[in-house]
Amino acid sequence: SLAACGKKNNGTGGGKTVTLGFSQVGSESGWRSANTTSIKDAAGAAGINLKFSDAQQKQENQIQAIRDYITQKVDVISFSPVVSSGWDTVLKEAKAAKIPVILTDRQVDADASLWVSLVGSDFEAEGERAAHLLEKVLGQSSGPVNIAVLEGTTGSAPATQRAAGFKKVMDASHPEWKIVASQTGNFTRDGGKQVMAAFLQSHPEANVLFAHNDDMALGAIQSIQAAGRKPGTDIKIVSIDGVHDGFVAMTQGQINAIAECNPLLGPQLMDTVKKVLAKQSVEKWIKTQESDFLAADAASALPNRKY
Ligand code: AHR
Repeated sequence: SLAACGKKNNGTGGGKTVTLGFSQVGSESGWRSANTTSIKDAAGAAGINLKFSDAQQKQENQIQAIRDYITQKVDVISFSPVVSSGWDTVLKEAKAAKIPVILTDRQVDADASLWVSLVGSDFEAEGERAAHLLEKVLGQSSGPVNIAVLEGTTGSAPATQRAAGFKKVMDASHPEWKIVASQTGNFTRDGGKQVMAAFLQSHPEANVLFAHNDDMALGAIQSIQAAGRKPGTDIKIVSIDGVHDGFVAMTQGQINAIAECNPLLGPQLMDTVKKVLAKQSVEKWIKTQESDFLAADAASALPNRKY
């Protein structure tokens, strides 16, 4: 048998080891590192042979990686699309090769028949949650609310949808909130640092920062301090993710609140891979469970954080 040849039985009924080709966005953030570790560990634990490539935030690299996986005849392809649009052609190639595609983390703007399932978060809800956290952070305080926004990667699902969710709450309930500056920091610490430095010059009236991820907030904190202002006090900060360093910044009162986005998608992805290959039905969108945290909760929550 194949098992006797040293191949692991993967639990899908056959004896053949399953090969999963995975194309990762890049290594732009703490969230992404935790996501990569989760996927690699879960593949190992599930006995799945993982082919992994890092696209360094470039769509053309992801398309190339997916084409390579098609040529190599992997059993399943999964990827976290750096941007939402421009996937139709390569997804049709995978379909023609009869290789199922499972999206992780980010969504695509492509026909739903071209992918089997999405394992990932509801980014619009995260944007709404961030706005509701800001309501709590501001409490009863009065005066202008001048918001600077550090956006994620332009054209990516989390950047587009987090902005939309935040704006939805703003439009519905907060005519007094004003977005005074909004620009991409590409989900990186350095991007957040540089763009915030420019915002502090051009928009000294900004007294709130909404960062689409913790890493950009952490970069921004450095620029706020360098400008002689106090992060979390002079400029209230709400971000998304809940990575370890973001929690540490909350315990120090530098970030006021975080809407969690859970990167630990590996186990659910491997489970979905096995189900799809076993021709079991899977949900079109396997949504991630997430929580909200205020700075006051951070110290007690920190020891239990998994990423
Ligand atoms: O797609 C998820 C987002 O990508 C995370 O919020 C961000 O940190 C990452 O880079």
